[in-house]
Amino acid sequence: MKAMGVLLMSLALLACRAEVNSSAVDYDAVEVPAAQLSSDEARDRGRALFKEKCALCHGDRADGRGVRRQGLSGKPVNFGSMDWRSNTSANEVFEVLSEGRRGTSMPAWPTLSEAQKWDLIAYVLSVAEDGP
Ligand code: HEC
Repeated sequence: MKAMGVLLMSLALLACRAEVNSSAVDYDAVEVPAAQLSSDEARDRGRALFKEKCALCHGDRADGRGVRRQGLSGKPVNFGSMDWRSNTSANEVFEVLSEGRRGTSMPAWPTLSEAQKWDLIAYVLSVAEDGP
């Protein structure tokens, strides 16, 4: 009987989750502008934006060691890590920039244009191979 209750509750929770997701963007399906991602100009613009808006938490060298990193909820990763890079897709970063990360200090960036987001993505995804 108890197990049944737990099962019903899990189903109810799943239903709620599904509802939340269905109203949101399907970030896996967002088309990645491949040419922009591999462009040096985009990367340079992304680096400049990064220093302006992200470095306080993520570090001037994108290594997760920003001056404000203490006391944040969640820990900024080292974008220079090959491990992070090989486990992260452009779509995932686009989603984090668009939605933030709930329950952490990573905010959403509704003030950035899509083009600016892709510039930033070009930059953060290049750090592991090309350095900051
Ligand atoms: C107020 C501090 C703060 C600022 C400003 C900030 N971030 Fe973050 N960010 C975080 C924290 C903390 C996390 C870790 C969240 C977690 O624990 O999952 C994070 C996570 C991320 C992640 C996910 C990394 C991963 O795969 O786990 C990306 C990508 C990211 N930030 C990019 C950016 C970019 C690009 C900017 C600038 C537009 C930015 N952040 C600005 C605090 C910040």
